[in-house]
Amino acid sequence: MAGLSDLAGRLPKTELHVHIEGTLEPQMMFALAARNGVDLPYADVEEVRAAYRFTNLQSFLDIYYQGAALLRTPDDFYDLMAAYLEKAAGDGVRHAEIFFDPQSHTARGIGFEIFMRGFRDAISDARRRLGISADLILCFLRHLSGEEAVATIMEAEPFLDGVIGVGIDSSERGRPPELFEEAYARARELGLRAVAHAGEEGPPEYVSGALDALGAERIDHGVRSLEDADLVDRLRREQIPLTVCPLSNVALHVVEDMSLHPLSAMMDAGLLVSINSDDPAYFGGYIGDNYRKAQQAFGLGEETIIALARNSIESSFLDGPRKTALVEELEAVSAGDEG
Ligand code: ADE
Ligand code: ZN
Repeated sequence: MAGLSDLAGRLPKTELHVHIEGTLEPQMMFALAARNGVDLPYADVEEVRAAYRFTNLQSFLDIYYQGAALLRTPDDFYDLMAAYLEKAAGDGVRHAEIFFDPQSHTARGIGFEIFMRGFRDAISDARRRLGISADLILCFLRHLSGEEAVATIMEAEPFLDGVIGVGIDSSERGRPPELFEEAYARARELGLRAVAHAGEEGPPEYVSGALDALGAERIDHGVRSLEDADLVDRLRREQIPLTVCPLSNVALHVVEDMSLHPLSAMMDAGLLVSINSDDPAYFGGYIGDNYRKAQQAFGLGEETIIALARNSIESSFLDGPRKTALVEELEAVSAGDEG
């Protein structure tokens, strides 16, 4: 019988919370800097990694946007997406719903036609080569205004092929979801689905606000929901998916240690929780590493790991038949493991 950690990496699953700009590995930073004639303020990969000592979300975001600024050409975006999809496929990911931050690129004069071309080509090549599928989720930067978010969704309209939904990310404190109500309303008119980062550093009220004001169908992080018993009750009753990212929460000091992470408590409360990687190049691991770290920290049994992978499939925006097919595949792999 294969080991449990092996099972975590092999089970068919989806990834629903990964920022493509957060998959930029230091090695690729140097390759992009050389290709685009940019000087990096670091001598080597070790120096880059040494800078990844975050104290909170903002201290990470400052470095994350510096890294994203190295992405310039369609080839840069292609290489980034292709590298992520290859790693994800190696971790058993059959389908990914991937965030991108258009405003971090358009603000530098890099238009939708540039990054969407790279993303789309990489996604269609990976589908053919690796059998992994992916959709994109356009995120509004929450430190910018609601008006800028509206302008972004209007600018995006001709480029929505392959985009399944919208989200909000970036600095959460002091930026309630209600600021983005109009941008989400426009996105809904365009047939897009809705997710939102909420309850990472922000209070439980931001989770309720994301559900009520934005119509969010899924909450990214949501770990602070546990501070409000009524909200937990609602999330359980409505089975609102929560995309949890254990390594991220430790790296950004949302929790001080993996042993203190509320993942098990969330599952015990009957919440629809999945495990995801957030910004794997910055937080010490991809989705398989997140499963394994959580499994070690909480001593999760095989049944729980299988339930988490099933939750990831059920929490996705895949259609019914594709979900059923993936769950059947999951059951076949887990049954094979028992034999
Ligand atoms: N952008 C990239 N990663 C993020 C995170 N963990 N929270 C909010 N915004 C982000
Ligand atoms: Zn995130």
